[in-house]
Amino acid sequence: MKNNVKRIGILTGGGDCPGLNAVIRAATKALILEHHAQVFGFEDGFQGLIEHRLRELKYDDVSGILQIGGTILGTSNKANPFENPVVENGKLVKKDVSDDVIKYLQDLDIGALLCIGGDGTMTIANQLAQKGVQIIGVPKTIDNDLYGTDVTFGYDSALSIAAEALDRIHTTAQSHHRVMLVEIMGRTAGWLTLGAGLASGADIILIPEIDYELDVICDKVIERSKKGRRFSIVAVAEGAKPKGGKQVINRIVKDSPEQIRLGGISIQLGHQIEDETGLETRSTVLGHIQRGGSPTPFDRILATRYGVAAARLVVDGNMNRMVALRGNDIVSVPLAEIGGRTRRVTPDDPLLKVAEAVGTNMGVKGRISENG
Ligand code: F6P
Repeated sequence: MKNNVKRIGILTGGGDCPGLNAVIRAATKALILEHHAQVFGFEDGFQGLIEHRLRELKYDDVSGILQIGGTILGTSNKANPFENPVVENGKLVKKDVSDDVIKYLQDLDIGALLCIGGDGTMTIANQLAQKGVQIIGVPKTIDNDLYGTDVTFGYDSALSIAAEALDRIHTTAQSHHRVMLVEIMGRTAGWLTLGAGLASGADIILIPEIDYELDVICDKVIERSKKGRRFSIVAVAEGAKPKGGKQVINRIVKDSPEQIRLGGISIQLGHQIEDETGLETRSTVLGHIQRGGSPTPFDRILATRYGVAAARLVVDGNMNRMVALRGNDIVSVPLAEIGGRTRRVTPDDPLLKVAEAVGTNMGVKGRISENG
């Protein structure tokens, strides 16, 4: 080992998604087989680090988990060592327990920590790195909105679930001559909706990056109806909103760093379309179905590549970096460049141009991307 680190910690943070176990398996196996290291898994993300909950992961512990969704370690999208909620004098206050966490890692002689997660996890990981912890990040999220990588693992699996849902909705829409809306996750990024909409040939795709106009959507479904296409499929992102309007908030999760949970736009918009056009309309909110189940082969391979690359960075002593995909190459980028930055669909994105080229309505008049 170029790096003398022999004991490595691993945790999964933020919302779960298919492929987490594949990364845990790959990183652990590579570290044990190639580098004769010991690996320890912290339970429930940073919560396990705060509450001293860990277990050793031996080779057999990570065998047979490649295809299994979720995470064998558990996760939390609330835990944060820099803002740990505690009750003091009957009041809930947030305390910085990062020094305790760092001492705990030192006492355990854990020399490097693999943090698998999205932007929230990478932000915390970078803060720990700034305080001297040796960190490697692995990019995960179904939203595919993490800065620094072309693709996060989990996206492809969610994409195939959302696309299949749209395909299934298609048959009912066609049989009943309805306008059918399918609401897709992704927070403030439209990647999942744009991808699923393209994959299933949705007639209208509404993403958070492009504020829609109701009359444009209604004109499109009426025009289709007049041409004898008596149904329309609308793929709508949970973060989509009308021009001059607001996103629909489903709930506020007070003890979460990212408090807003979006959801419900398809119901609201569905009623408006039905009122305006007189065409029967239905809405389906896919919700957490998109995050469940087995990873696709693409995600299994990507997660395995990420896990092996993360192990290699530890061994090479190339610390405080996040593994990433650029084209078809696995590279790494400094963690400090990632934290707090997200990647959203831009007007010149090739996928957007392709959608427009095949006549997909994006909820606005005219072309969004002028070039190419
Ligand atoms: O970031 C992943 C994601 O599934 C988003 O697409 C969605 O908005 C959010 O998490 C849902 O969060 P929760 O699981 O806390 O409801």
